[in-house]
Amino acid sequence: MTSCIPEIELKAHAKVNLTLEVLGRRPDGYHNLRSVIVPISLADSVTLHRAPGGEIGLAVSTESWIKAERLGPGALNLAVRVACLMQQRYSVRQGVFIRIHKRIPIGGGMGGGSADAAAVIRGLNKLWNLNQSLAELSSFGADLGSDIPALVTGGAVVIEGRGECVTPLFAPEVASAVEPIWLVVANPGVMCSTAQIFAKWRADLTNAPEMVNNIRLHIQRADVRAVADTLYNGLEQTVFSACPEVAKAAALLRNAGCPGVLLSGSGASVFGLVRSEAHGEMVSRKLPAGLWHRVVRTCPVV
Ligand code: C5P
Repeated sequence: MTSCIPEIELKAHAKVNLTLEVLGRRPDGYHNLRSVIVPISLADSVTLHRAPGGEIGLAVSTESWIKAERLGPGALNLAVRVACLMQQRYSVRQGVFIRIHKRIPIGGGMGGGSADAAAVIRGLNKLWNLNQSLAELSSFGADLGSDIPALVTGGAVVIEGRGECVTPLFAPEVASAVEPIWLVVANPGVMCSTAQIFAKWRADLTNAPEMVNNIRLHIQRADVRAVADTLYNGLEQTVFSACPEVAKAAALLRNAGCPGVLLSGSGASVFGLVRSEAHGEMVSRKLPAGLWHRVVRTCPVV
C-alpha cells in the first residue's frame, strides 16, 4: 500500500454559454463557433495526490442527483487520459491519484467532464512542477475537447474556431471589478449528444460580431435586463425540436419569472437570468420539485 499525501485541491467550475454563434462547418467536420463562456459557482471538486512510480489512479464519487450510470468509461477516462498524455508530452516520471466529487449534471452542456479535465491539467502543471504557460496548457487541452481550452484559461472568455482560440472577455483590471450575475440553472435529466445536435443543425449562419461587444458592456454595467436581451444560442431551436423536455424546462424558467432564458452549449441544461440571489430563490420555489435546478452566480474571475 503506497501512502498518498493530499497535495492539491481544485474547484472544477461548470460554465454557461451566454452567446453561441455557429459560424459554419469546417473541412474537419467540426463547426466554427464564437461564444461567450462564463464559469459559474456550481463546481466539482478535484483532488490530486502525488503517486509514486508513474502510477495513475482515479476514484469518482457523486452527489445523489448525478445519474452515475452516465459516467461511462469515456467520461471517467478523460481525467486519466489527460494525466497519461501530460506524462508523455512533458516527459514526467511521477504519477498521480485523482479524486473527483461530481456535482455538475453529466451531459448537460455545462462542461462537467471538460471542467474536471481542465482542473487536472492546471493541477498537474503545479503538482509536477511543469511550469507550462496557460497558452500551452490550453492548446494541449484543445485536442481533448472543444470546451477544455476555455476552462483551462478560466474566467469569462470568448472562444472562436472550434474552441481552441480563447480570449479573456475582460482586461484583468476590469474582470476583478465585474459584479457576478445570478442565474437559475436547470437540467431536465435527458442527454443531448453534442455530435448529434451539430449533425441536425440547419439554421442560418449567424455572424454578429457586435453581440460579444454588447454582452461585454452589459455585464460590465451589471445590466441584467440588457444581458437577458442579448442572450443567444444558435443551437437552441435544434435542441428544443430534438428534445422537447429541454424546451419545457426553458418554458418553466420563463414562467417562473426569469427575464432571459437560454440553452447552455448543446444542452440539455438551460439557465434563466435573475435579478439577485433572493430573486433566484423565488424562481426556484416556483419550479416543480422533479426538475433539477440550482441558484448559482457567475464567476467572472476564477
Ligand atoms: O469536442 P467535443 O468532444 O466536445 O465535440 C463533440 C462533437 O460535437 C464533435 O465530435 C463534433 O461532431 C461536434 N462539434 C462540432 N463543432 C464544434 C464542437 C463539437 O461539430 N465546434
